[in-house]
Amino acid sequence: MKITPVILAAGKGTRMNSKLPKVLHPLLGKPLVQYALDAASTAAGEKPVLVVGHESELIRETLGDQCRYVVQEPQLGTGHALKQAESLLRDQTDLVLVTNADMPLIRPGTLQKLVKTQQGHDGPFTMLTLSVDDPRGFGRVIRDQGGSVLAIVEEKQATEEQLAVKELNASMYCFSADWLWGALERVELSPQGEYYLTDLVEIAVKDNQKVKAVLTEQPAELIGVNTRVHLAEAVKVLQGRINEELMTSGVSMVDPGSVYIEPGVKIGRDTLILPHTHIQGETVIGEGNLVGPNTMIRNSVIGNDCEIQFSVLEQATVEDRVDVGPFSHLRSGAHLADDVHLGNFGEVKNSSLGKGTKMGHFSYLGDAVLGEGVNIGAGTITCNYDGKEKHSTRIGDRVFVGSDTMLVAPVELGNDSRTGAGSVVTKDVSPGALAVGVPAREIKKPQNK
Ligand code: UD1
Ligand code: CA
Repeated sequence: MKITPVILAAGKGTRMNSKLPKVLHPLLGKPLVQYALDAASTAAGEKPVLVVGHESELIRETLGDQCRYVVQEPQLGTGHALKQAESLLRDQTDLVLVTNADMPLIRPGTLQKLVKTQQGHDGPFTMLTLSVDDPRGFGRVIRDQGGSVLAIVEEKQATEEQLAVKELNASMYCFSADWLWGALERVELSPQGEYYLTDLVEIAVKDNQKVKAVLTEQPAELIGVNTRVHLAEAVKVLQGRINEELMTSGVSMVDPGSVYIEPGVKIGRDTLILPHTHIQGETVIGEGNLVGPNTMIRNSVIGNDCEIQFSVLEQATVEDRVDVGPFSHLRSGAHLADDVHLGNFGEVKNSSLGKGTKMGHFSYLGDAVLGEGVNIGAGTITCNYDGKEKHSTRIGDRVFVGSDTMLVAPVELGNDSRTGAGSVVTKDVSPGALAVGVPAREIKKPQNK
């Protein structure tokens, strides 16, 4: 049985007060609509159709071919929005699963329950309902004495008595496609000038058809984002889910409420995350690490048994037993091999540091390749940029770079060489040699040459 999701996303999102379309606002690193898209495609196993409105170009650019698009212009309500999918879906699917782009917390399991109920039911559709204390603009579900669903009444049109109803319309439905398109034709314009999808309940009831309602046990999944305040609430719920899942799998957090981990991140057992830490993108962190406090790690790979404190890592790779920080910055292409020590105020960009290399204090390495067991003295800088181009620096194994050395690239320090404090190295230094001064000269020739 083919189930095709249709995600309604054409609403204007005026209350975000933003130039950015509402559904593209980031929620833990992903656009809002991505969550609805992932949940619907997982639940249905088909590529969703997204109903978009004005400014749809940016949405298409962002989401690409993860979904098919139909444009609703002008936006005349939820019923009108769904109707736009007819041209793509008529005779192409058995069921139509309708969800909302601005409900990022819905889980595939909840949608599957909705679909299963419709599959085991001969009425034209099943709707998802919820019961909460703060109805916040939701339509009320009206049932008869026997409990059969009669109508959905929008808050604006509801009587006092109807407003007191606790069961609310989630605006997620599973329709039999054969019935849907014809029924949408019968929806009339509301006094608000919109075609309400919710009118389909009364249309079905008029035809003596039964509409099923599934009451969710997880109302938090149906937080709708209309304002930035709602967006922050959704972040909190998502953060709680992600952190709980990680803690269950063996990751420790002292203060999970202050730790923001994005959905794509993987973290191994017995890693301890200290407060005020952000871990983003496709980051993978191994076992037994100490991360934080006050650390940001984005799109990086970290091995096992490392300590990373008060630091920022972006597109970096860190192997095992490495310690970084406090206050260091690993930028794109930084690669620290096993047992590297990177102390305070170090910056590393597009450079690799071999096993056991140490850089304790106040240094910058850019476009450099360092061997094993190197010691980088305090204040060392690779002068990798001449104002026009970047140049590389090569440092061999066991090199000792004296404090405050300037390495004017391109330049190479041979294995076991040394530089004196304050030297400005403009020419290659031979293996085993000591170079000192400004510009640096070799004062000790290699023994075995
Ligand atoms: C809708 C339901 C209400 C339900 C509530 C749950 C109707 C008439 N009402 O109300 O019963 O309790 O959702 O949140 O359906 N959209 C379009 N095009 C439009 C209008 C809306 O694509 O012309 C999209 C929006 O982008 C959004 C979704 O449809 O993703 C719901 O629209 P919204 O305006 O939030 O509906 P509500 O008035 O809140
Ligand atoms: Ca809404």
